[in-house]
Amino acid sequence: MMSDFKEWMKVHQARVQSVAERLLPSEDLVPTALHQAMRYAVIGGGKRVRPLLVYAASEITDGCKDVVDLVALAVECVHSYSLIHDDLPCMDNDTLRHGKPTVHIKFGEATAMLAGDALQPEAILLLLRTGLPAEQCMELVRLLAEASSTTGMCGGQAIDLSVVGQAISYEDLQRMHAMKTGALLKASVLMGAMSGQSEFISSDLLKNLKEYGEAIGLAFQIVDDILDVTEDTATLGKTAGKDEKNDKPTYVSLFGLDRSRQLVVEQHNRALDALCSLGLLQGKSKHLADIADYIIKRSY
Ligand code: IPE
Ligand code: IPE
Ligand code: MG
Ligand code: MG
Ligand code: MG
Repeated sequence: MMSDFKEWMKVHQARVQSVAERLLPSEDLVPTALHQAMRYAVIGGGKRVRPLLVYAASEITDGCKDVVDLVALAVECVHSYSLIHDDLPCMDNDTLRHGKPTVHIKFGEATAMLAGDALQPEAILLLLRTGLPAEQCMELVRLLAEASSTTGMCGGQAIDLSVVGQAISYEDLQRMHAMKTGALLKASVLMGAMSGQSEFISSDLLKNLKEYGEAIGLAFQIVDDILDVTEDTATLGKTAGKDEKNDKPTYVSLFGLDRSRQLVVEQHNRALDALCSLGLLQGKSKHLADIADYIIKRSY
């Protein structure tokens, strides 16, 4: 079964790659450096966890693959923008991402900033191309905007910067992680479901997928904090040990490795319980459960 999932994952990661190559503005188009920087950030890097969540959730509501491609790429555009800006000298000041120089090292800070800016409207334009009924399309735009907003990723990133060097409470740390990382992962799941056939989108489905998304979203960032300490730069494709160097409060700095790992298991169980309520632990719709396993076992 696991090898079926590995194959599914490989196929869909390759799909994101080819959709990005096809749909992002061409490098020959003026302004060429801006388009090159956008493509450099999105194409050829990353685990594609958010698009994988979109595809897996869309299988539950029988989404049409060509439509789901646009939604998956939209979410990856917002994620890539968040990484470009996260790596800037004014934020985490990182020089390596996906085993390559970060966008501002390769293209300069101004172009990096603009590439991040431009990937946001690009994402909205992709969603508007889905041809889904207006109500579903509006909901996709709303979910993505909300997840990226001050109550989601941007707000979480602002808190992340404001607490450097401080000891923060467990509640504050959990809220920061849920916002900066969890929000977009949760939105990916809901957007996947929302890309399908409306007759399969029930409030019970959305409620449980929200619960699943919150749990794996939090687990994802706790694992990211753990890997920053336990893995090396070559494995991560980004500079290891940066959280301590930047004096960031993380799950590891607050709880240590063992307790952090226990908290990941707790969130993993919470995610599986939500899928269990939907009868999604077996059969053709078990990819969300496989992704939850992947998120907690990954090494980069
Ligand atoms: C890294 O996200 C930033 C966080 C939100 C923790 P990913 O680990 O999903 O990044 P890539 O795209 O796979 O490199
Ligand atoms: C980044 O968190 C979260 C977002 C980009 C929204 P981190 O700063 O921990 O991500 P990495 O470790 O640089 O990938
Ligand atoms: Mg950061
Ligand atoms: Mg960072
Ligand atoms: Mg990190």
